[in-house]
Amino acid sequence: MIKCTTIAELRTEIKAHKRAGKRIGFVPTMGALHEGHLSLARTLREHSDVRVCSIFVNPTQFNDPKDYAAYVINLDTDQKLLEKEGVDILFAPSVDEFYPTGFQTSVTVSEISKLWEGPLRPGHFNGVASVVTILFNAVQPDVAIFGEKDFQQLRLIEQMVSDLKMDIRIVRGALVRDAEGLALSSRNARLSTKGKTDALSISRGLNAACKACASGEKNAKALEEMAAHSVRAVPGAEIEYIAVVREETLAPVENISGQCRILAVVRIEGVRLLDTMALTA
Ligand code: PAF
Repeated sequence: MIKCTTIAELRTEIKAHKRAGKRIGFVPTMGALHEGHLSLARTLREHSDVRVCSIFVNPTQFNDPKDYAAYVINLDTDQKLLEKEGVDILFAPSVDEFYPTGFQTSVTVSEISKLWEGPLRPGHFNGVASVVTILFNAVQPDVAIFGEKDFQQLRLIEQMVSDLKMDIRIVRGALVRDAEGLALSSRNARLSTKGKTDALSISRGLNAACKACASGEKNAKALEEMAAHSVRAVPGAEIEYIAVVREETLAPVENISGQCRILAVVRIEGVRLLDTMALTA
């Protein structure tokens, strides 16, 4: 695996592959890699010849500077995992490489950013859309993959790529769960053993809602309540939102029709956990 830390180095590598007619696949990450990230890299193998993975902890998407300061990654460990996975190029730029003095541009995806995570994390989605644009300009991928766990982020990127006519195919990566059903996330490492057991109430609740929906319950409030009921059984669990939304716009729905999805954000032991499932009408 080749490691590039500057855009110039990366472009030289990418140009050589493009000249040879290779399709470039891209997995952007903020490090702290787990099986969820590695499964994205694996899925990308089917869609590309050369796989590029970036590790960049993007300061502009943290609405709380304390969270950014506390976000620690181990680049050596992550690098080894990517090497083992057979990734071809690791792109690990510095903050100065991306945001030199005088940097002043931001990308806004207006409507999707107003919902759910948007108001709770002001500035977060502008940070994500902007850094992904910089990453896309640096990597120039033919195809890029984003996980369904951060479903709002995935829709934001799909919308941005479509609106800005970026010639990049976005592949949706399936959410990966552990053997018991907990959605994989770097944040799970901050949960105690009991916290991990308590966190299973989230996927249990979403599963109950999915089953009820498949058996004919189409009322969104009833489905949300079913999912929330499972979480409320855990003392100390705090629901930030559990919402049934339309997949494309992420707008709340009253009754299930077409493609809908249930989104959940719950704090367990103070750790903010996201989960989501598609609802089949
Ligand atoms: O999902 C993430 O890890 C980040 O938001 C991303 C897409 C790498 C942008 O920094």
